[in-house]
Amino acid sequence: MKTISEKVLARSIKNHDDLKGKKVLVRIDVNTSLGENMTVDPGEDWRIIKSYQTIDYLLEKGACVVLISHIGREKTESLKPIYEYMSSRYTLGFLPNYDGEIFETTISNMQHGSVLMIENLRQHDGEKENNIEFLSDIINLCDIYVNDAFSVSHREHASVHGITKELPSYFGLQFCDEVSYLSKALDMNEDSNTILVLGGAKFGTKLDLLRQLLPTINYALVGGALANVFLRERGINIGQSFADSVDISDMLENEKIVLPIDAVDQHGDVIPIHQVGGEGMILDIGPETEKLFEQIIDTADTVLWNGPMGKYEDGFVAGSIAVADSVSKAAAFSVTGGGDTATVILEEDLADDFDFISTGGGAMLDFMVEGSLPAIDELLKNNA
Ligand code: 3PG
Repeated sequence: MKTISEKVLARSIKNHDDLKGKKVLVRIDVNTSLGENMTVDPGEDWRIIKSYQTIDYLLEKGACVVLISHIGREKTESLKPIYEYMSSRYTLGFLPNYDGEIFETTISNMQHGSVLMIENLRQHDGEKENNIEFLSDIINLCDIYVNDAFSVSHREHASVHGITKELPSYFGLQFCDEVSYLSKALDMNEDSNTILVLGGAKFGTKLDLLRQLLPTINYALVGGALANVFLRERGINIGQSFADSVDISDMLENEKIVLPIDAVDQHGDVIPIHQVGGEGMILDIGPETEKLFEQIIDTADTVLWNGPMGKYEDGFVAGSIAVADSVSKAAAFSVTGGGDTATVILEEDLADDFDFISTGGGAMLDFMVEGSLPAIDELLKNNA
């Protein structure tokens, strides 16, 4: 029986041997936070850059490429800034919606090697409702569909899910990389020494992941607000620190879980973890924890990391930078993901020292917990 990774790779667009002149509809995920002047900040362009390998491959094979993506969660948000950014690399056209004469003429007249982008999918209710009606014209005008949007494939949305019934569908190159690197990191045996590093504040899926991986990993280094839950339940007074009410009784005494021994509080002061209490608030791991985590990371043959060690959005980044540094120096096979985690690594210019940085946040976690994603299963089911 084939693994999910083998099934996805078998359905890679690389296995379609006749792309010349074909109109290929490519679902990318260029969901990027924009700066105040509504342009792409150079530090935020990594997801956009990761979409280039599939586009370049298709152009090289002589295909016409039609790009679709969402941006943000509001109907008012526009892909125009992303289009402008990508225009420095491609001769790119832009269409504001999916209907009308201009739409049909533009797509019908596309030449080999040309690239078009269509406005934010989420401006249409059908996208989130998984109702492909609003996409019917583009489906009629294109020959092949490619999903290169791993990071949104945990959603049952029309452009990654329903559409796979309507056109011969394939996975893009970034998508295949995501599935093979994440699967490799999860492929543990009794001799492997895998360290899971978890941070941030998405309690639900991260706790599921921890619960699932604990029997096979060697250690779980836990930081961020996630650690506060364990500290509180282990009887430490965490003061005003943020911690959700979740049941972790089954994992509480697990010795593989390593928690912070010191913290940085709201005043930027370093305090031993037993002294937080009162008005104190844990906002990052402290230097002793950084050292402890480094020693453990150094022994790993695989490191799997998702989520920052501190309240990243308020500038508490030192703990995450220290972990990024430790992983980058370690000899381990390293796979990481989650928006803030990726940003730290890229800002510190450490990306080359990581084996793989996933574009997925929620999608990466869901894939690791479930072993697949709804949009993967649907594409495989409809294109057997
Ligand atoms: C992401 O940023 O994780 C993806 O683009 C999915 O976005 P969403 O969480 O708004 O669906």
